[in-house]
Amino acid sequence: MILEVKNLNTYYGNSHVLQDVSLYVHAGEVVALLGRNGVGKTTTLRSLMGLTPPKSGSIVFKDQEVLGRAPYEMAWLGLAYMPDDLRIFPDLTCEENLEIARRVSRHSGYWNKERIEELFPVLRERRKQKGANLSGGEKKMLSLGRALMANPEMILLDEPSEGLAPLVIRDLMSVIKEIRQKGLTILLADQNLKFCRRISYRGYILEKGQIVHQGQMEDIWQDEEVIKKYLAV
Ligand SMILES: Nc1ncnc2c1ncn2[C@@H]1O[C@H](COP(=O)(O)OP(=O)(O)OP(=O)(O)O)[C@@H](O)[C@H]1O
Ligand SMILES: [Mg+2]
Repeated sequence: MILEVKNLNTYYGNSHVLQDVSLYVHAGEVVALLGRNGVGKTTTLRSLMGLTPPKSGSIVFKDQEVLGRAPYEMAWLGLAYMPDDLRIFPDLTCEENLEIARRVSRHSGYWNKERIEELFPVLRERRKQKGANLSGGEKKMLSLGRALMANPEMILLDEPSEGLAPLVIRDLMSVIKEIRQKGLTILLADQNLKFCRRISYRGYILEKGQIVHQGQMEDIWQDEEVIKKYLAV
């Protein structure tokens, strides 16, 4: 087990957002976090990364209790995060955006600029373009590329498929499968059930800050009641 989360409670001010969230991820797994708008998917990922520190609970990452660690410490331990707002530097080129991610990382390994441009040929084509001039899909790829530049062991992806055209989603699926084959563990929050089913084996469903269902994606996919109750919009 690379990640084991128990009874996580996270607040924004007085608002008790995550309520006793528990989940686990095995090394090498791709696990989906599902649920409608505002149920706490982003808050869960931010809690794990240390960006929104939980008030109580336990987060064991690679056999260490990490609750209360700062985001940079989590990064040093091998956790990376692709935020939903992507955080691309608009005035830096595509290439410079990748370079910055490399410089702040403590880990070297398989992923470098060349390998990332191989994985996302569009980033090679757009190498000299400013971040601000990239399309939505290109920004997603760049943001994922930046997360990989840290050579993490596990990566948290917030809404990777959101706003992407079907063809771009297909590219993204094959990229995620390839990343996984290189040994990376992935926890992704996404509302696109079909996308999650194609790339992940297990999933958790959040509702009002609580895990209300978990299981194999194939079972969730076939469970009309669960879909209607927690996922359909
Ligand atoms: N910075 C914040 N301050 C106060 N409340 C917040 C803040 N961010 C999120 N919330 C609230 O916390 C709850 C969970 O939000 P969160 O963003 O984690 O949900 P989500 O599942 O990621 O939703 P989405 O599908 O919109 O991305 C929501 O009720 C939201 O309004
Ligand atoms: Mg969110």
